[in-house]
Amino acid sequence: MILHRAIAIDGPAASGKSTLARILSQKLGLIMVNSGSMYRAVTWKVLQRGIDPNNREAVVQALRDMELECGVDGMVSTVKVDGVDPGDELRSEEVNAHVSAVSAVPEVRECLVSLQRDFLKLGDVVMEGRDIGSVVFPETPYKIYMDADPNVREARREEVGEVDSVAARDHADSRRETAPLKIADGAAILDTSGHTIESGVAAALEILRGQGFAMPA
Ligand code: CDP
Ligand code: CDP
Repeated sequence: MILHRAIAIDGPAASGKSTLARILSQKLGLIMVNSGSMYRAVTWKVLQRGIDPNNREAVVQALRDMELECGVDGMVSTVKVDGVDPGDELRSEEVNAHVSAVSAVPEVRECLVSLQRDFLKLGDVVMEGRDIGSVVFPETPYKIYMDADPNVREARREEVGEVDSVAARDHADSRRETAPLKIADGAAILDTSGHTIESGVAAALEILRGQGFAMPA
């Protein structure tokens, strides 16, 4: 089996993970995987079926009943549930409100971590989430933990008109028993509060060089 490289990007909501991962994917020719969209897709299906997202047993049964299909389209990960791409509904107010509860279910995590590791069979990846450096790819030397002031992060979500209780999600994601959000061993911290997108990307590239990531010529 060919072993490809993985860049792991973790951090709280609106710290800038997706933005950085998208740009690194384009600059470095990596497959971009948004692991959050996979947790959101499971949550979307649970809600669609009228299941209580806080009822663990019911969530596990729903997970067993659904067919999750991951793929790549133009170097960006895709996810379908029972043949349907939920699209913008992944970022609805309802999904935002319940995704942390569904993500805390160990069976959900086990299933999605396995699908996430499979992306590495396809090529070099940049994957962003909460537990990528700590659980999904603990062995990778390329790890960034992104952060930003909580007020800055709330403002970023409001700016794009998204209804999201960032603080509540961060609280739940950091306190859960299985794979909580934390700074992975070996991760470099990048605080984007005072960065523009451009200067944040430059700082990330510097970190990756320092971690020994060979840049394309
Ligand atoms: O984009 P944003 O940071 O707001 O969220 P996201 O990355 O789409 O993740 C949505 C939710 O999925 C998070 O609040 C976590 O509850 C969960 N998640 C997780 O538990 N583990 C991951 N690797 C990625 C997301
Ligand atoms: O994926 P995550 O939830 O961590 O964040 P995101 O979806 O990339 O959103 C971060 C927001 O902050 C976007 O609206 C960016 O335009 C903005 N931003 C950034 O990502 N990096 C900076 N250095 C400054 C602003």
